[in-house]
Amino acid sequence: MAGQLRVWAIVPAAGSGSRMGATVPKQYLQLRGVPIVARTISRLALSRAVDEIVVSVPPGNEKAFERDIVERYSLSSLCKCTVVAGGADRQESVWRALRVVLEHQDAESSHMVLVHDGVRPLVSKAEIVSVVEAAKVHGAAACAVPPKDTVKLVGDDGLVAMTPDRSRLCLVQTPQAFRLLTLRRAHERAEEEGYVGTDDCSLVERLGLPVALTPGSYENIKITTMDDLALAEILLAREDARDRSEVAMTARVGQGYDVHPLVCGRELILGGVRVPHEKGLSGHSDADVLTHAICDAILGAACLGDIGMHFPDTDPAYAGICSIELLRHVVVLTERSGYRVTGMDATVIAERPKISPFVPEMRRRLASAMNLRDECVNIKGKTTEGLGFTGSGEGIAALAVATLIPVPGGLSEEVVTCTLEGGLYHGD
Ligand code: CTP
Ligand code: MG
Repeated sequence: MAGQLRVWAIVPAAGSGSRMGATVPKQYLQLRGVPIVARTISRLALSRAVDEIVVSVPPGNEKAFERDIVERYSLSSLCKCTVVAGGADRQESVWRALRVVLEHQDAESSHMVLVHDGVRPLVSKAEIVSVVEAAKVHGAAACAVPPKDTVKLVGDDGLVAMTPDRSRLCLVQTPQAFRLLTLRRAHERAEEEGYVGTDDCSLVERLGLPVALTPGSYENIKITTMDDLALAEILLAREDARDRSEVAMTARVGQGYDVHPLVCGRELILGGVRVPHEKGLSGHSDADVLTHAICDAILGAACLGDIGMHFPDTDPAYAGICSIELLRHVVVLTERSGYRVTGMDATVIAERPKISPFVPEMRRRLASAMNLRDECVNIKGKTTEGLGFTGSGEGIAALAVATLIPVPGGLSEEVVTCTLEGGLYHGD
């Protein structure tokens, strides 16, 4: 939550992308394996400054957008995301989303609205935060950069009419932020007067109200033509490389430990593999002590609590469940929180049976559940030389250590692949 002052983000993404000239609207085109608009929404959702998102999409695309963008990229797990039908122009698309915000029971006129184009996926956290802060003070604000080229005003005859003083010019981008009341009045007035602007600040300017400017970035490009898409690929690749070089410092480590008693009449399951033995482990699930220790190590590294919190042993849904399924779910939760498992080392502490013949199969099953190569998973067997509960054969214990790395931008290209074909756009 961003304090008491709620911040709604409106994402106009209902255009047809005519200048791009692709077969689908440009917001659905893939940028390093993920649709542009999914990347844009993910950036907003990951910003602590944004509490809730309303996105306007081409009319008729709402359901497919929910499925192929919002659900497919787990965007709602990051931040509540509502999809609405957009309008004939950008202003109408923003206005329709704004009306949905205004109808919301939690909306108050003192709240803030951030408007950000669905096709600006390279927006930074700093830009989002600074524009919202400026709008809290001034009522309206936009990110802007100084032009690098000289700008000329052209007359009706096609000849240069004048050269404005470049030092007073700025190129305005999104995000733009507003007090909810200010943006509502601005859109109402524009509608009354039939005015259509290319950004939302221009509607506020017409009310005679102040608009502040905050530093934008030359990298926060609006993807309009194929050249922009190529440039965005390069910029994003550079960001990913920078993120990766920071990975060593931000990698996470977690440890897990579990014990189950050995009893007659149960199968012994370790690391998802049935190991022949006269006894098996007792427990609510299949009592796979090794997989449980691994789940806890991953949850620990991701700061997501422990296995008991996510799969309570009082819940009948988990009675007898295959623990490899629990591990798969733990990996999904971890990926949603922005981390990927990169390595696992575990020790099974048991006097008997000897586990080494089964280790290759355990590694294979565990690695597959964690989307890892077998070589990234290590399993060791240990006895306690007859000492303690493991030495006497009363139970088996397991220890595990997991390493995780952050997924750049919170979305992993390798984990999620887009399924837009035949999904989102049914236009021609
Ligand atoms: N937009 C919108 N509704 C419209 C038109 C545009 O929500 N009726 C959105 C676009 O999807 C985009 C943003 O407004 O995220 C900026 O608009 P623009 O770059 O002009 O996109 P398009 O209108 O799709 O492209 P073009 O003008 O080339 O057709
Ligand atoms: Mg347009």
